[in-house]
Amino acid sequence: MDMIKKVTTAVLKEWRKENRPITMLTAYDYGMARLLDEAEIDMILVGDSLGNVVLGYDSTLPVTMEDMIHHGKAVCRGAKRAFVVVDMPFMSYQVCAEEAVRNAGRIMKETGAQGVKVEGGQAILPAVKKIIAAGIPVVAHLGLTPQSVNQLGGFKVQGKDEETAQQLINDAKALSDAGVIAITLECVPKDLAQKITEQVTAPTIGIGAGNGCLGQVLVVNDMLGMQSDFVPKFVEKYADLKTVIIDAAKQYKEAVIKREFPAKQHSFEISAEVLEKLY
Ligand code: KIV
Repeated sequence: MDMIKKVTTAVLKEWRKENRPITMLTAYDYGMARLLDEAEIDMILVGDSLGNVVLGYDSTLPVTMEDMIHHGKAVCRGAKRAFVVVDMPFMSYQVCAEEAVRNAGRIMKETGAQGVKVEGGQAILPAVKKIIAAGIPVVAHLGLTPQSVNQLGGFKVQGKDEETAQQLINDAKALSDAGVIAITLECVPKDLAQKITEQVTAPTIGIGAGNGCLGQVLVVNDMLGMQSDFVPKFVEKYADLKTVIIDAAKQYKEAVIKREFPAKQHSFEISAEVLEKLY
C-alpha cells in the first residue's frame, strides 16, 4: 500500500526515475474527486472534456475560464491525495505568454490545483516557459489536441507519417526540456508513444497511445460506462453505470407511482395529540 499523503511534483519525478506507472482520471466535481482519491488514483485531471461530458457541448471550444475554475474548485475540495491538474480552456493561453501566465495564475489561486494543462507543441513554448517560470507546474498535451479539432480536421490518430511523427518527437523533447511535469499523448500510434517516452525526461501519460507510456489517463465518464453515444476505441469500460443509473431511476419511478416510496422508515411522525389540535 502506498504511504504517500499527497502526490507532489517531487513524487512524480521519483516515480519517473523508478518507471512506476502513473494513474490519472478526469473528474469534474467534489463527489467524484473523493471517490477517485479513495481509490488512490494518483492524478486527477479537471479536463475541459467537461464541455462534452458535463455541459453538453459538442466540443471543448466553448468552455470558459469560469467553467474550469468552478469545477476545479469542487474537485480540489474532494482530492486530498491526488495531484490535481486543471485544463486551461481554449484561448486562455494561445494569444500571448503574458495572458497565459495570468490565466494559469488565476486557475492556481482560485482552485487550489497543483498544476495546469495546455495543448500544443513548440508554438506554445513561450507561454509554457513563462507559466513554469511563475512557479506553476505544467502538463503538456500532444497528439490529438481537441481544442484544435477544426484545424486537425476531426478526431483522428496523429503522427502516422514520418513528418508529423518527427514533429511530435521534437515537440515532446522541447516541452520536456522546458520543464513540463508530464506530457499527455492522445491518439498516437503506440510505438511512436513508446519512442517519445524513451526520449524524454518528463513522464508520458497516454490516452489512446498504447501501453508504452509511463502513465494512462481516461475520461472517467467513459471508463465508468456513463456515456450513451460514441465511445472511442481506446476506452475500456470498467463499469456499466449507464444501465445501473437508468435501472435505479426506473425502480424509483415505479415505487413513487405505486405509492410504495416513501415507506414508513423514510417518514417522520407527529404525535396524535398534536395532530388532533390542528384545524
Ligand atoms: O479534457 C480532457 O479530458 C483531456 C483528456 C482527454 C486527456 O484532456
